[in-house]
Amino acid sequence: LIDKKVDSVISLMTLDEKIGQLNQYNGFWDVTGPIPKEGQAAKKYEDLKKGLVGSMLNVKGVKDVYALQKIAVEQTRLGIPLLFGFDVVHGYKTISPIPLAEAASWDLKAIKKSAEIAAEEAGAVGINWTFAPMVDISRDARWGRSMEGAGEDPFLGSKIAIARVNGFQGDLSTKKNILACAKHFAGYGFAEAGRDYNSVIISDEILHNVVLPPFKATVDVGVKTFMNSFNELNGIPATGNKYLQRDILKGDWNFEGLIVSDWGSINEMIPHGYAKDSKQAAEIAINAGSDMDMESYAYVEHLKTLVKEGKVKESIIDDAVRRIIKVKFELGLFDNPYKYCDEAYEKATLGKKEFHEGVLDIARKSIVLLKNESNLLPLNKSGQKIALIGALANDKTSPLGSWRIGADDNTAISVLEGMQKYPNNQLLFAKGADVALGRTQFMWETKINTEDKSGFAEAIEIAKKADVVVIVLGEHGLQSGEGRSRSDIGLPGVQQELLEEVYKVNPKIVLVLNNGRPLAFPWAADHIPAIVEAWQLGTQSGNAIAQVLYGDYNPSGKLPMTFPRDIGQVPIYYNYKNTGRPTMNEPESVFWSHYIDEKNTPLYAFGHGLSYSKFEYSNLKLSSNSFSINGTIQVSVVLKNNSAIAGREVVQLYIRDLIGSFTRPVKELKGFEMVELQPYESKIITFVIDEKMIEFYTANHKWEAEAGDFKVFIGGSSDNTLEADFQYNK
Ligand code: IFM
Repeated sequence: LIDKKVDSVISLMTLDEKIGQLNQYNGFWDVTGPIPKEGQAAKKYEDLKKGLVGSMLNVKGVKDVYALQKIAVEQTRLGIPLLFGFDVVHGYKTISPIPLAEAASWDLKAIKKSAEIAAEEAGAVGINWTFAPMVDISRDARWGRSMEGAGEDPFLGSKIAIARVNGFQGDLSTKKNILACAKHFAGYGFAEAGRDYNSVIISDEILHNVVLPPFKATVDVGVKTFMNSFNELNGIPATGNKYLQRDILKGDWNFEGLIVSDWGSINEMIPHGYAKDSKQAAEIAINAGSDMDMESYAYVEHLKTLVKEGKVKESIIDDAVRRIIKVKFELGLFDNPYKYCDEAYEKATLGKKEFHEGVLDIARKSIVLLKNESNLLPLNKSGQKIALIGALANDKTSPLGSWRIGADDNTAISVLEGMQKYPNNQLLFAKGADVALGRTQFMWETKINTEDKSGFAEAIEIAKKADVVVIVLGEHGLQSGEGRSRSDIGLPGVQQELLEEVYKVNPKIVLVLNNGRPLAFPWAADHIPAIVEAWQLGTQSGNAIAQVLYGDYNPSGKLPMTFPRDIGQVPIYYNYKNTGRPTMNEPESVFWSHYIDEKNTPLYAFGHGLSYSKFEYSNLKLSSNSFSINGTIQVSVVLKNNSAIAGREVVQLYIRDLIGSFTRPVKELKGFEMVELQPYESKIITFVIDEKMIEFYTANHKWEAEAGDFKVFIGGSSDNTLEADFQYNK
């Protein structure tokens, strides 16, 4: 039925109006103020009235959205409503943990819930399309946008991508849900040297086996939109990449939604050296399958001429328009263009109590206990003198992280505030050292300020007096995110020095890390007895951290990305290939794949994360040692909570395919289960291994299982597993 409606709208449209639908403008001006008379805003305003705009981005608030929608609906010839897009990545006003942190929860229900909250708040302010989830796999901690993805693993990444798409899109007939967008298609997370926007050079095998699975997963659950990418992939910019967009996405995967370009990425094909001017860039992009132009002005200015010159077929334009009009129908905008425009609902919805409860839940679940020597944690709730140190401990903005569209500065609960809720301890606070200045992005611009050690003395003083030190160090929320790659992934500024100075006077330290990417902190891992990875946890950050420190919440997070010992190991990831010379840990021998000055192993492996409970794995059993087509094997393990504290454990299943037509990783995550165990309780956890689980993109250029020998591993971390062997016969 929708297809018929779409056809009938398209049959009424002129070529100009069709091209208009492919045009997306940034709405930067004061929409409800005076009508813009000159400059870009005036041009956009005029184009809007002529029906030359299909979508706007970065417009928020019912008043503004309503005003622009009214122009589209009432002043254009056909009255086609606009899509309003925005980067609602981890919340609109009530902010959830950054996506990488949420991934550490491995809790798909909680992740879905977080996306639902974001969608509900965004929908309430008029936004009907989020440019999320980012499903780019990344193995490089230098890349600032690691914070926005689900980490390094395609299996976990796919499950999380599905949870997020389902959370955002849910039931599109209601105003609680909005369009999701799988981005950035494709390869963006593999930017060379971790430098944002840099070239991506990867094999077809890695593209299919590592990069594409989360994208494919979103198509399978009906994601409505895709965004392409700034990077070139093996010599061809993603925006102009026909192989990616037409052959794979719209061809093999039969994706029926729309593809929007990234910001200006059509024109960026000029500096890429792939198009000589904007007109040629438009021709390449539309022919390659990019349906909507975000802020390049290339389609609106050149497509008509290109059609007349025969360089772009009108059928290509029709196909792009069809996709856009179709999602507008699916959203219900043709029935009610003001569906998301209700000021009373906006007011009643933003910052609802239940949203705060939801983001607190996922914030607690995102925390990863990296180390807890001598059970320093949880802290005693009374009779203790606690020295709380670090600028980040008293920061109410940094925990909001990058991409926090509708949240004001200073709206997160700080660690100081969270810990003040435990009044039977004496809490002393000293800043010690700054991390970065507020919104300033570039460390090299703020060097003078971040090297200030004048706060050290006070921090050392309170540390001397304390029973335990809690020190909150890491990155400011704006030191990761788009365009914020780092060449050094240690603690910024003088924080490392501060930590070492405090340690000299009181080594009983709990280090709480705030960061948007894996950091390398080998000294701390060696010396500091307790380390808590607390990322940037959003609005409820301080409450979540305090509840974990005091044992009111038992941590269960597991790392979704490997933490290196040293930046020189990056890219480092658990599912590496064995090489012809796997290191044999024989220090006297040089000719192995290793470093002469560093181990190959990470500081903390993918999947690592402790609990206040003590989980023990034993008795790995297979129901059979082999299976064939349509058959299965059951693999089980006994998990025991050998402690007096109830807890949750993520049981992880990995498989290794020993010989492949393409070389196979030493281990690949293929399943996981969140298990809750009461004190001293044991459970048998069973997974079913089937053909699907061992499929990969083979040298035949298709997904299939190859017969041969396999290993299965089960454990609580990628580097701590029990194992057994099995065969798959064809
Ligand atoms: O959605 C983003 C994208 O991820 C990076 N460039 C800008 C877009 C719109 O804000």
